[in-house]
Amino acid sequence: MSYAIAGFGAVGQALARMFARKGIEVAVASRRQPEALAPQATVIGPTIVPKTLKDALEADIVLLAVPYGEHREVAKARANWKGKIVIDVTNSLDDLGGVPSSSVVARALPGAQLVKAFNHLPARVLAEDPAINGARRVVFLSSDHESASATVATLVERLGYAPVNLGKIAEGGQLVQARDGIWGPLIFQDLFKKVQ
Ligand SMILES: NC(=O)c1ccc[n+]([C@@H]2O[C@H](COP(=O)([O-])OP(=O)(O)OC[C@H]3O[C@@H](n4cnc5c(N)ncnc54)[C@H](OP(=O)(O)O)[C@@H]3O)[C@@H](O)[C@H]2O)c1
Repeated sequence: MSYAIAGFGAVGQALARMFARKGIEVAVASRRQPEALAPQATVIGPTIVPKTLKDALEADIVLLAVPYGEHREVAKARANWKGKIVIDVTNSLDDLGGVPSSSVVARALPGAQLVKAFNHLPARVLAEDPAINGARRVVFLSSDHESASATVATLVERLGYAPVNLGKIAEGGQLVQARDGIWGPLIFQDLFKKVQ
């Protein structure tokens, strides 16, 4: 399984730290050339590999960490999204007519299997070690694709977090979406699960 993070700002770098902590290779990309991302990637760790956006999007699993409005530009950077797993880390407080923002993102990526995750916590918290006092920080998952959700749950566990599946995006997943300019009730809830 190969991984890439599209967007290397506050959240993209926090996600990169998760992969670096576990020694897992991950490509990172933005609109800038890879050389421009290299100094920060080097600071984070040797498994963080800057690439062009086009090359990064070859990965099996792409974590989308760009501003919400930019998802369409990322979508255009790849001709075919069929079979790709996209982890949507974006948030939007825009009025989308009651449609969850992740459903809008999913529509822009035809054929991709979208799983919402890692969006409910601030970047500075995401950058922290997720194991505290024998417990693991919870990451909520929601998706309309069960098998993709299971694959992402495995990654979330490998990264040291406790996955909690909320179900479909327009059902349990609404708890981690914004609606009518108001954050869902699980956004900013920094929860921990005891290791059994
Ligand atoms: N900040 C938080 O605490 C937080 C927490 C959870 C979720 N989120 C969500 O995560 C997303 C990113 O937030 P952020 O705070 O990390 O934003 P940010 O610091 O502004 O970083 C955005 C990154 O996206 C890149 N980018 C912008 N347009 C792009 C495009 N078309 N193609 C490729 N890369 C592009 C930017 O790099 P270039 O300018 O070099 O292209 C930059 O690296 C947002 O949707 C936000 O709602 C944020």
